[in-house]
Amino acid sequence: MAKGLADYGLIAAQIEALAEEDARWVPLLANASALVMDGVGDLNWAGFYLMRPDGADGAARELVLGPFQGKVACVRIAVGRGVCGTAVATDSTQLVRDVHEFAGHIACDSASNSEVVVPIHAGGRVAGVLDVDSPLVGRFGEADARGMETVVAALERCCDFGGLA
Ligand code: SME
Repeated sequence: MAKGLADYGLIAAQIEALAEEDARWVPLLANASALVMDGVGDLNWAGFYLMRPDGADGAARELVLGPFQGKVACVRIAVGRGVCGTAVATDSTQLVRDVHEFAGHIACDSASNSEVVVPIHAGGRVAGVLDVDSPLVGRFGEADARGMETVVAALERCCDFGGLA
């Protein structure tokens, strides 16, 4: 992976091209996690958490692990917990320079030191998040956060989130 800002526009375009073949969330988010992992340097984890629909199995509204690249990760995250749950609760991108300074950060891979989480919207509400981790402190800047939002915007346009459970 070349140094410098990743080509987030290219990743977004590749996602839109893949959606023409199959826009359903399992294949599209699986390939999107691979595109992000391949296309963005110095990552140790890239993937998705998806919102469980309200009241499914009587459970609280929470995030559940979706397609990803990297080490085994925690399966459920309550809204408001960790970086991912904070992104949902505040409906805002979280750019974390050092995860050890983020109160309530959930450590899945001890190699992770910095993180970006971007909420994904579908049907007028938050449907999940894109979560990207790096072993480098301060790996991500504002341009990376805006780039990840470009990737998420592509998914919001073309991904079929139907059938989430
Ligand atoms: N660090 C996240 C948990 C998910 S892992 O990074 C894959 C958080 O605090 O929400």
